[in-house]
Amino acid sequence: MDIEARTYPFTRHTPFEMPEEFAWLRENRPIAQVRLATGDTAWLITRYDDVRTALTDPRFSRTINREGAARVDTGFQADADSPVFNFGGSISEPPGHTRWRRLVNQAFTARHAESMRPAVAAHTDALLDGLAATGRFDLMADYAYQLPIRVICDLLGLEQTARPEFSALAARITRRDLTSSFVEFGQALQDIGRYAIGLIVRKRQNLGDDLLSTLIALTDEEDGKLTNEELVSTVILLLMAGYESTAVQLGNAFYALFREPAQMRRLREEPEIVGRAVEEILRYAQMGTGYAIAKFTTEDVELSGGTVPAGSTVFVSLASANRDEKVFGEDADRFDIGRGCAHRQTAFGYGPHYCLGAALARVEMQEGIARMLARFPGLRFDGPDLDDVPLASNLFTFYPAELPVRI
Ligand code: HEM
Repeated sequence: MDIEARTYPFTRHTPFEMPEEFAWLRENRPIAQVRLATGDTAWLITRYDDVRTALTDPRFSRTINREGAARVDTGFQADADSPVFNFGGSISEPPGHTRWRRLVNQAFTARHAESMRPAVAAHTDALLDGLAATGRFDLMADYAYQLPIRVICDLLGLEQTARPEFSALAARITRRDLTSSFVEFGQALQDIGRYAIGLIVRKRQNLGDDLLSTLIALTDEEDGKLTNEELVSTVILLLMAGYESTAVQLGNAFYALFREPAQMRRLREEPEIVGRAVEEILRYAQMGTGYAIAKFTTEDVELSGGTVPAGSTVFVSLASANRDEKVFGEDADRFDIGRGCAHRQTAFGYGPHYCLGAALARVEMQEGIARMLARFPGLRFDGPDLDDVPLASNLFTFYPAELPVRI
């Protein structure tokens, strides 16, 4: 395959089909140089083992706006100096990240996520009550996008009256496509930051039992407390990382199940395997147009597939790792909700930046899928053709723009 002639990110047509280049690269050139639309070159890592190593090794830095870095045209702006890849400020790289993560890990535990299950279930049921009255609805806008923002409002302990304003603010950083204005996006982030400052001031005066209150109050002998700046970054990060990702994957779950009726039937007959089904959905439906996680090497790094030279921009492909035949078998491209090894998926990343909200996202998806199927035994796609569903994609997400259903 003439990889040099192709531009990265490679073309993808659906959230489920991977570009043909990935399988070829895993087999033939697991550490490959690729050409970007800007004309610059970068490196691409495609094998599961190398992906996990690159995400753990500190020589792969997360700060990519450095001298010598490849110019990356994300559609927002033609250089890497943008919050798109580098949001999070001081908490995105060690030592700030290490300190922040040690502190917030105390609050974001699997047990905490489990403790939120009844609230997640209640939000789900309330949404389903509303939808039951309509008969026909858009599963994306009316359901998938509704659940995660309610959960984030819970995490932040927002009063009911404050929720519509906050949700509208949050919507401004979602559903953006590659052409949406960088200025508008930056403006929305600033507005959310301002909102977060006000919220933190309010919370300090009246701590509750929500996660934000816990974050404000928690202290560690070694790390002290989270500063105001760190708290504001955390609120922004929760929204950036936890809202649209969950919405899109919840929607993709139904899209995949509608496309594979045998899998849908099986999940209806065996609702107890919903946990495994969610792992498979996360493995199978890939986020984003394919830029992957961007890194910059501070030294030469040898991986099993070859060496990445110091001073390189590197894309670490979770999408490709999730289809690695050596881990998931020769049928890795197939959607199989009974797949025993699906929990090895890398959709939540790996290493020090492993998704802080993974346990919570799992709870949301499990409840969001299982309750919908239980409540509406006749749930079906109600558009002309599943292959013609309009798809939307951007740097981080790939999903049906609309998913009309009938119950
Ligand atoms: C299906 C839903 C989700 C997916 C697929 C997902 C995926 C990811 C991935 C791949 C990363 C690592 C990025 C990197 O290494 O640069 C990440 C980080 C993160 N996620 Fe999630 N996420 C999801 C839901 C959530 C939720 C619900 C929350 C919180 C409410 C959340 C909060 C975060 C945070 C704060 C980080 C940054 C962690 C760090 O840098 O240490 N995510 N997520």
